[in-house]
Amino acid sequence: GPELVPHAELWGAPVPDGPGSANLDWASLGFDYVPTNGHVRYVWKDGQWDSGRSLRDPYIPVHILGNVFHYGQALFEGFKVFHTRNGTVCAFADNMNHERMGHGCRRFRIPEVPWSLWKKAVDDVIRANVAFVPPYGSGGALYVRPFIFGSGPRLGLGPSPEYTFVVFVNPVGSYYKTGQLEALDALVNTEYDRAAPLGCGDCKAAGNYAADLESMHMAKSRGFPISLYLDAREQRYVEEFNTSNFVAITKDGKYITPQAPRSVLPSNTNRVLRQLAADLGITVEQRPIDFEAEVDSFAEVGAVGTAVVVTPIRSFTRGDRKWTFGEPKVLKQLLDAVRGIQDGEAEDRHSLMRRL
Ligand code: COI
Repeated sequence: GPELVPHAELWGAPVPDGPGSANLDWASLGFDYVPTNGHVRYVWKDGQWDSGRSLRDPYIPVHILGNVFHYGQALFEGFKVFHTRNGTVCAFADNMNHERMGHGCRRFRIPEVPWSLWKKAVDDVIRANVAFVPPYGSGGALYVRPFIFGSGPRLGLGPSPEYTFVVFVNPVGSYYKTGQLEALDALVNTEYDRAAPLGCGDCKAAGNYAADLESMHMAKSRGFPISLYLDAREQRYVEEFNTSNFVAITKDGKYITPQAPRSVLPSNTNRVLRQLAADLGITVEQRPIDFEAEVDSFAEVGAVGTAVVVTPIRSFTRGDRKWTFGEPKVLKQLLDAVRGIQDGEAEDRHSLMRRL
């Protein structure tokens, strides 16, 4: 049956093995499920959070009337943990993920997870799974996935009487099978919208990703591993890719990315890259980007996010038209800058790394 034991009993003892000690082929990791030592789980009921559990069993018994199944009250997050050159294990900017989940909780009437609980959950699950942190130099990371959902029984539409917050980890390599820095051909999506103008595109809501599946399938069936959404009102302004934000480096050397605060997911990677670009003296513009009017001015295009990091886009296809972009030079520089911080090779001037 399910192993429901207190943290101390399961993970209280010192973890014997360090980063990279799990028996995995680190160099060949993709973005796929890898069983680990377990996850942490907290339950909110009667206005308060319980003291949490550490569990090995990756299954959760949830009431059949759980709000998540019927009305989709669910949010998730994702950040990475790195083994650095100095031997430390650090979480990359998970304060930003906590902030974003809080925003989603307010939008979806879900109780917020206090930072102290988030931090304890994250620290505990990583401590128990240190062996699964890919070793320095392997190019991988431990992906951390916090998520929260309405788990209590409720028949009519309304907030759930109970919520469950889980944090699990999964060692990962590159998201797209082609590998990091292999450019992708993208389709401009004209048959589906991702987010309504005043909808919930700015939240990491589970349903936003479910709604992408058919559109992603359509693009893949036409030979495109990735597709770009335009704004739902006019199908004119760039919004984002299936799982990641849009960035272009213009021919005059600017870093441009859409400004659409109610419909584009506020990517932490994009936020960090804007800062690193500014540090390199690159002009950063966050503003509406008119696809047809501006596509010819793009020198480099990238998909940016926690999972994809910085993945270059080689071309856009829209109907029978195709635009091709240059080699990622500035984007490569930015990727190196962010990877340098994550690997502990570059100075962490913005205090992005939280040592565990
Ligand atoms: C991430 O980039 O971390 C995400 O959450 C996207 C997900 C589809 C893997």
